[in-house]
Amino acid sequence: MSSRTNAEMRGLHIGTDRHAWWKEAVVYQIYPASFLDTNGDGWGDVPGITKKLDYLKDLGVDVIWVSPIYKSPQADMGYDIADYEDIDPSYGTLSDVDNLIKEIKKRGMKLIMDLVVNHTSDQHAWFLESRSSKSSPKRDWYIWKAPRYDSQGNRQPPNNWALLLGEANSAWTWDENTQEYYLSLFTPEQPDLNWENPAVREAVHNILRFWLDRGASGFRMDVINLISKVQTFPDAEVLAPSHAYQPGDKFFANGPRLHEFLQEINQKVLSKYDTLTVGEMPFVRDEDEIIKVVGAESGELNMIFAFDLVDIDNVPGEFTFTLHPWNARDLKRCVARLQRLMLERDGWNSLFVENHDQPRSVSRYTDDSDQWREYGAKLLCLLQTTLAGTLYVYQGEEIGMRNVPESWGPEEYKDIQSINFFKKYNEMYPDNPEKIALARKIMQRKARDNARTPVQWTADPHAGFTSPSSKPWMRVNDDYKTVNVAAQLANPNPQPGTLSVHSFWRRGLEHRKKHKEVFVYGDFELIDAEHESVVAYKRWSKDTACVVVLNFSGETVEWDGMGEMSVKRWWAGNYDERELGKKSTGGKIELSPWEGLIGELE
Ligand code: GLC
Ligand code: CA
Repeated sequence: MSSRTNAEMRGLHIGTDRHAWWKEAVVYQIYPASFLDTNGDGWGDVPGITKKLDYLKDLGVDVIWVSPIYKSPQADMGYDIADYEDIDPSYGTLSDVDNLIKEIKKRGMKLIMDLVVNHTSDQHAWFLESRSSKSSPKRDWYIWKAPRYDSQGNRQPPNNWALLLGEANSAWTWDENTQEYYLSLFTPEQPDLNWENPAVREAVHNILRFWLDRGASGFRMDVINLISKVQTFPDAEVLAPSHAYQPGDKFFANGPRLHEFLQEINQKVLSKYDTLTVGEMPFVRDEDEIIKVVGAESGELNMIFAFDLVDIDNVPGEFTFTLHPWNARDLKRCVARLQRLMLERDGWNSLFVENHDQPRSVSRYTDDSDQWREYGAKLLCLLQTTLAGTLYVYQGEEIGMRNVPESWGPEEYKDIQSINFFKKYNEMYPDNPEKIALARKIMQRKARDNARTPVQWTADPHAGFTSPSSKPWMRVNDDYKTVNVAAQLANPNPQPGTLSVHSFWRRGLEHRKKHKEVFVYGDFELIDAEHESVVAYKRWSKDTACVVVLNFSGETVEWDGMGEMSVKRWWAGNYDERELGKKSTGGKIELSPWEGLIGELE
């Protein structure tokens, strides 16, 4: 352990020696099927991304992360890869990608790829070979186990782990041909690779090299903390007694050899390139485990996606499709913990409240009604653009896209996880309309589909996502006539003294870069930690100190959490900014519903 004091370590971030492009970068995530369709088949494509590069550059984006576009049967929307070195024809060709990379670089931006190597598709040549016989040379590339038998002599999976995208079922899939089970944590179409086998690891290293040599600047690493499993494959504790299968993450999240495997990737590949790496790390809260991955001296990854904020409304330890109450105090606890952790232990954060696996943030954390949606979207922008870490914006977030409407029937949901969930409810409660209504409500609040509807570009048919005569692969949100990019670009000041959500984001990103010593690299302290609706914190660098005050409630609040501090000038807010000069600068501050403010401190 280091003998440096916390204060000394915190000082590291305030100097100039810890600067890096990947820390300051604004990353924009593209979910390609829903971004923009250019050939009228109703499915977004690579040329569609290329077409919008000027739009992204103008917004303030530095790095583009594209969710998987590789050859895939699309059992899980491309997170089931059949060939890592080719593009799925539905997205275009390798030469479309080369062109995309060229155009991205021309604009001074970078591309990161989605690396999905915990598992492959069951159609990948490796798996086809592996399943062909017990003596196949690739048998050991996946995780095969003999069945167990219960007291009645019925065949059972090797343990009780539940499938992550269909919790009513086992994580093990039976193979008739070779009479063994293979591990498939997500769906049966996504067999887990056996990372214990050095040949598998070498094959993965080659995938990274392939894309880095082609011009990619790094990777978002899909569920990377699941690659090392406890090799005895024990039964999980029964946490959900009404379910036959149980959450088994204790035995496959941050398993025994994770750090060894990540260090190997770094030494053999990443250290030879200039990259941004972000590992998706569900299930993990342990601070030592996090620092081992993202600590400045770790030699593993630059940063991770921690799940604290997006798990806020899940019943702890249970499955995602649950509803759990929370308030602003919970939210700021999540934020403050990770902010402080990285400052004190020299790690690095990622900032995100949306991606393709989460509902829309304006619906989840604020109020998406017509009255409040824009305030909520801007409030979340203020939060994210003023915290320390690398910022990730998800497509559509910059215009405040919301969840699908409650009126949509279950048939509109296309995600395998939603389909499995609804099926499970129907099987468990066949003649119970109340339970079915509950299942629909949970889907409307939590389903991944919410973030997967096509991007709303214009008020034209299908929101301009595809040609008017085509049928989008997924239904466009009903609100596209009012919520779309074109409307916000055409009208950057919808009311006097206010900006559109899009302009607010653009200015927020600009502001963040201009004051990066404070917002990206500066120190952090939570203010008034116990308040139930106001999230407030101080950010400061050597020469500037700011306060951010965010009312995460639909009520007017008389807030007196400023203590001795006083504001020199309020810089920005999500209400009429012509009124900022009249705001109180200390003592009691009146905050309107969902109001957010940034000010410079005296
Ligand atoms: C990650 C992806 C998700 C996918 C899963 C399996 O969580 O973000 O979309 O279903 O991994 O690859
Ligand atoms: Ca297309």
